[in-house]
Amino acid sequence: MCGIIGYIGEESAATILLNGLKRLEYRGYDSAGMCTIDQSKIQIKKGVGKVDEIHKKLNLTNLSGNIGIAHTRWATHGKVTIANAHPHTSCKEDIAIVHNGTIENYQELKEILIKDGHNFKSETDSEVIAHLIEKFYLEYKDEEKAVLTVANMLKGAFAFAAIFQKNPNILIGVRKDSPLVIGIGKDGYFLASDILAFIDHTDRAIFLDNQEIAIVSRKGVKILTFNGLEVNKSITQVAWEVSDVSKKEFKHFTLKEIKEQVYTVRAALNQDLNKIDEFCNKIKNAKRIYVVACGTSYHAGLMAKHLFNKLAKIYIEPIIASEFLHYGDLTDGGSVIIAISQSGETADVLNVVREARKQGLKVFAIVNSVSSSLVRESDLSLFINCGPEIGVAATKSFTSQLVIIYLLALKLAGLSIEDSGLLKLSKYVREVLKLEDEIQKISLKYYNNGDFYYVGRGPHFPIALEGALKLKELAYIHAEGMPAGELKHGTLALINDGTPVVVLNPYDETYFETLGNAAEMKARGAKIIGVSDRMNEIYDDFIHLPTVNKLLYPIIEVIPLQLLAYYITIARKQDPDYPRNLAKSVTVK
Ligand code: AGP
Repeated sequence: MCGIIGYIGEESAATILLNGLKRLEYRGYDSAGMCTIDQSKIQIKKGVGKVDEIHKKLNLTNLSGNIGIAHTRWATHGKVTIANAHPHTSCKEDIAIVHNGTIENYQELKEILIKDGHNFKSETDSEVIAHLIEKFYLEYKDEEKAVLTVANMLKGAFAFAAIFQKNPNILIGVRKDSPLVIGIGKDGYFLASDILAFIDHTDRAIFLDNQEIAIVSRKGVKILTFNGLEVNKSITQVAWEVSDVSKKEFKHFTLKEIKEQVYTVRAALNQDLNKIDEFCNKIKNAKRIYVVACGTSYHAGLMAKHLFNKLAKIYIEPIIASEFLHYGDLTDGGSVIIAISQSGETADVLNVVREARKQGLKVFAIVNSVSSSLVRESDLSLFINCGPEIGVAATKSFTSQLVIIYLLALKLAGLSIEDSGLLKLSKYVREVLKLEDEIQKISLKYYNNGDFYYVGRGPHFPIALEGALKLKELAYIHAEGMPAGELKHGTLALINDGTPVVVLNPYDETYFETLGNAAEMKARGAKIIGVSDRMNEIYDDFIHLPTVNKLLYPIIEVIPLQLLAYYITIARKQDPDYPRNLAKSVTVK
């Protein structure tokens, strides 16, 4: 939930680190900081707020030196304060670290260190890393040995980088259950939570595996396992272009990524059909198929349940990842796990995957980030190919996940892709995006409301959940998604004069029953925002979708809900790319 970046090379580190921080802000943006070493002196600047605000105040780029580390924070332990911002330093302030993750045993370590005479300046768990390294560096006079010792003492999920005032020629990175990647540039080396941090400088990367340590100097990289063995790792040429990570002509990444769906749904279709076959063959005979995911990806899992059942008569059980180990049964033998995750780094998902693999289950992933932990820890992965998704709210990744799920359901049902209409999806998406101005007008009528309801039946229920989540996380408006038929069992009591209800009501087998639910709500004062391919006078506002193949309709149905949430957010003068309290990749449990 934080972003770290380090650099060592011939260039001035500060500018490189600042640009890298901006690329990592989607991972957390409540505070940030940077430190460099110049003439054997560590210099630190850190502050509260977004990177640009801190830079304007502190002028981060006047930190000199060609080695440094930097961090953008999403607070886990300790409030959002300057003292809790990273980098953190040792007592003598001659060792600095930046950390992403959580140190589960930090209290006991902190007690030992305080007894040893160490003085702490922050409330964070991360600071113990700096003091522990100091303790063992004093003992061994060897940076590598000190960090190796510390790495083996820490419990939890962590990725950290460390620099040493006494030796400005090495940058050390450590990875356990949180992502850390090395960039191999022409004029220097990078360490970062995500390749996005250094993609402007190099597309050559080494992805550290769990329990590995990188000792990076200006001459190269040495990689050790936690038990001190040196390992050779291949260099990966990363496919992403720099343009993928710029906003281009758009004001926000979120809008850019909503619009990109014209292309990304087509890119998702670009699958190796042998891998689709292989994926289906490996799941179809399983005794039980669990889908494990969070948030938007969980809504894709619910859509998979609908489609696999309806088309292929295969029952699957989507379970929210953080709930799974409380009632999913991994020991019943013959089960398989389908893990759906855009980032491939969601701790709740990885936690289940690791437990499942310990029990000998097979894990199959549907994922965007090809270099993620989930890919490395799955038996087979299908890639949604939607490119980097920077906006914290999942948009293009959701429709791309749905495309893969449709391909799998069609394959399992022995149905042809050509007849499904999937190949025309891009055209349908383009048509729906033409509704942008109308949707923006609707957003201006409702942006001050405090509660929204999204209702739908059958395949439209997961889309109702997704529409509600978009509004909550972007506009900070309470919204509830629910089955249309469920309203009368309690929630109808909350429908009041002017309560906006988004009714997903295409002219399919759910049409008339859902229309009846809309009438029930309208009779109690609700404002009905109808999303359908057929007008009805019950609707106070109407988003007119094209009539498309019924099977595919849910994929295009979510797009107006994404636009509605985006424009309500804009009307509320909030930043859709950096919603408060959230981060793009939830790497803590
Ligand atoms: C969705 O808009 C949110 N950003 C969040 O719910 C997200 O879907 C969830 O954290 C899962 O992320 P993942 O797909 O990367 O695992």
